[in-house]
Amino acid sequence: MKPIELPPYAPTLIESTRAIGYSLEAAVADIIDNSIAAGASKVDLFFFPVDKEYVAILDNGRGMDDEEITTAMQYGSKNPMDERSKDDLGRFGLGLKTASLSQCRSLTVVTKREDVLLARRWDIDYVANTGKWTLLILDEDEILQLPHVEELLKYDSGTVVIWQNLDRLKAGEINFEQALGRKIDVVREHLSLVYHRYLSGEVGLKKIEIQINNVKIEPTDPFLSSKSVQAMDDEILVVRGKHIEVRPYILPHISKMTSDEIKMLGGKEGLRKHQGFYVYRNKRLLVWGTWFRMMRQGEMSKLARIRVDIPNDLDDLWTLDIKKSSAIPPAEVRNNLKSVIERLAEKSKRTWTYRGKREMDDSVVHVWNRYRTRNGGFMYEINRDYPLLVEIQNENTEIASRLLLLMKQIEENIPLNSLYLDLTNDEKIENDKDIDSAEIIIMLREILKTTEASLHSDMIDMLKKTEPFCNYVEEIDKALKEGILS
Ligand SMILES: Nc1ncnc2c1ncn2[C@@H]1O[C@H](COP(=O)(O)OP(=O)(O)OP(=O)(O)O)[C@@H](O)[C@H]1O
Ligand SMILES: [Mg+2]
Repeated sequence: MKPIELPPYAPTLIESTRAIGYSLEAAVADIIDNSIAAGASKVDLFFFPVDKEYVAILDNGRGMDDEEITTAMQYGSKNPMDERSKDDLGRFGLGLKTASLSQCRSLTVVTKREDVLLARRWDIDYVANTGKWTLLILDEDEILQLPHVEELLKYDSGTVVIWQNLDRLKAGEINFEQALGRKIDVVREHLSLVYHRYLSGEVGLKKIEIQINNVKIEPTDPFLSSKSVQAMDDEILVVRGKHIEVRPYILPHISKMTSDEIKMLGGKEGLRKHQGFYVYRNKRLLVWGTWFRMMRQGEMSKLARIRVDIPNDLDDLWTLDIKKSSAIPPAEVRNNLKSVIERLAEKSKRTWTYRGKREMDDSVVHVWNRYRTRNGGFMYEINRDYPLLVEIQNENTEIASRLLLLMKQIEENIPLNSLYLDLTNDEKIENDKDIDSAEIIIMLREILKTTEASLHSDMIDMLKKTEPFCNYVEEIDKALKEGILS
């Protein structure tokens, strides 16, 4: 036996790695990961679709020196098994090259550190001609001709990654400019979600600003955390001595969200589709909207979203892929997560049917009663014992009997079909809204006006158990204390 060296044939290997399956947005994110790892606080993306079209990604990170930039351009510049610094988002030593060349034929990296400007280029056509791994080194004049180098020069240090000859991006597009516009929208949405914790400047993270063609990207918070309830305490799973943090959220009931919020969370359809785990690796969102086959994406759990934070030193356990767009939890984590989702799904179900539950609460006097009838169906009926109605009956039997006739008409003509359609389509039904507490107090005073003074406190006690007043007990007590009701 004797060993021989058999390096890969450059043109074929470069061409094959283009097909790893990067989408434009995943490719861009891989470049931004590098900027974040280099400590950048600002990343500017430029999409330039006309003339000599290009895509450029400029950051103000720490830049690279001569040796670093050359190593950075090498395929497999770092070993995936090596330990990485805690905030490094990289792993394979491939992203810069594979992500870039999945979109274009020419990748140029320009970097600045301590007033030294350097640039290297992989040009697929050049490599094909030489049949070797020939990296191009640009001289200063060539560098200064490149787009956005001027901006780079204004930074103390930084890097600009330039994609030219955008064959993959242009493939199949008749009107590239228009098509790119649509693609940019997708990229914007992706980045605003994937980096939302960096963009919003979460405590303990270096805040970063990302712009596309000079327009700032705003963070998308998939948990609507300002409004959601954190349904259960955080759970810490300890795996191989490392901590995985699990924070379960339940989104507010859809009737409590504004249309902008619903849109931000993926629209009505998106709400259901995007339930599940949101797995972050070093605070960067990796995978989301999946229960990892531990549970079905049901209607009832659609408000449940669970944030899972994994550190980068558990990468091998989570079987990270090169694009970092999939990660599967290991068995030991899966068992723990399963118990979290079961508990959370139960709570989500309750938020979803919250109003229903209240409607069924026996200790409350309802406006509507719901009975099971003898033939197994249900009957909805306006409560004949509702206090206001009883009062009217006591005062004027003639008006009361006409009122009863009207109520029967109302009961028999509930627009059931359209209600059903609206509810299943998650339409907002405006009847079902919270009454302003001031309005409640006014209503209460009106009722008390017609009640004998000696019966006031009994009346108030009863109304506190009656819809809709039962939902405003605190406000009523406050009004009593302030003497507004007497
Ligand atoms: N914007 C940048 N600023 C400073 N250094 C960079 C930048 N981009 C890349 N580098 C350097 O180049 C190296 C190679 O980057 P590349 O993306 O190919 O691999 P990686 O980030 O190490 O791993 P992965 O394949 O998982 O992305 C990085 O480890 C980093 O040292
Ligand atoms: Mg990388």
